[in-house]
Amino acid sequence: MIIGFVQTKGGTGKSTLAVNTAFSESMNRQFPSIALVELDPQGTLKSWWEERDDMGLDPGKVSFHHISSTQKEVFQQGIKSISDFNELMIMDIPGESTGKLHTRFACAFCDLVIIPMRMSTNDESAFMSNLYPIIKEIIRAVPEKKGQFHVLPVFTHPLLNSRHCFDYFEDILPPQISCLPAVFPARTVYENFNRKGFNLNEYAKLVESNKKYTHQVTKAIEDIEKISQTIISIGKECDDSK
Ligand SMILES: Nc1ncnc2c1ncn2[C@@H]1O[C@H](COP(=O)(O)OP(=O)(O)O)[C@@H](O)[C@H]1O
Ligand SMILES: [Mg+2]
Repeated sequence: MIIGFVQTKGGTGKSTLAVNTAFSESMNRQFPSIALVELDPQGTLKSWWEERDDMGLDPGKVSFHHISSTQKEVFQQGIKSISDFNELMIMDIPGESTGKLHTRFACAFCDLVIIPMRMSTNDESAFMSNLYPIIKEIIRAVPEKKGQFHVLPVFTHPLLNSRHCFDYFEDILPPQISCLPAVFPARTVYENFNRKGFNLNEYAKLVESNKKYTHQVTKAIEDIEKISQTIISIGKECDDSK
């Protein structure tokens, strides 16, 4: 299965979601090998991965790949060859820094495209003017791709009723895009550890003795497992309909 987290707008949780779903228990139970792929030339995840390496943290089934080439053939060949060797591939797909052609190729290559989006008119209009035209082009060229594009509501208030988010997005999204039946709530825990090379499970071990942090990280792990399970089941539906 090939999954992409894509947004032309920065700071919507793409990289955080890519990393933590790759290390989630649900994904690791389901797939023998997992490739985490960063397509951003800035290399945020690359630095994160290098910190892990320096600390000697166990990557388990997850391998990391950074494709930074802006040359079309190198970029496309890189993506194809990684997907040949891994049962699950999770891509962090940026917008501006790679250019439209690269974003379009990466999205078209995915079985499932997840678009993290806040409930804000700002994010909606950015989506409609930047990412949506790319998605429309893909669907026009390959109509079977319809049904593979899903918005994931992000940074929602932890106490907000998810039903409210789904209704909101179903209302404003164009018909080719649906809302994933899961949310990525705002959690302060991400501010505490994200940059240091740990994944959520490793961070949970680190703060075991602190009740408050343990409560927060447990909630965050639950969010990620729910998102991963939802992705797996939607991915299966897409597979069955092929
Ligand atoms: N669920 C969350 N709740 C609160 N902050 C988050 C959450 N997910 C990510 N963040 C923070 O938001 C910022 C942007 O996240 P990041 O994953 O780097 O976004 P992107 O890759 O889309 O630019 C980071 O500082 C990250 O720690
Ligand atoms: Mg990022």
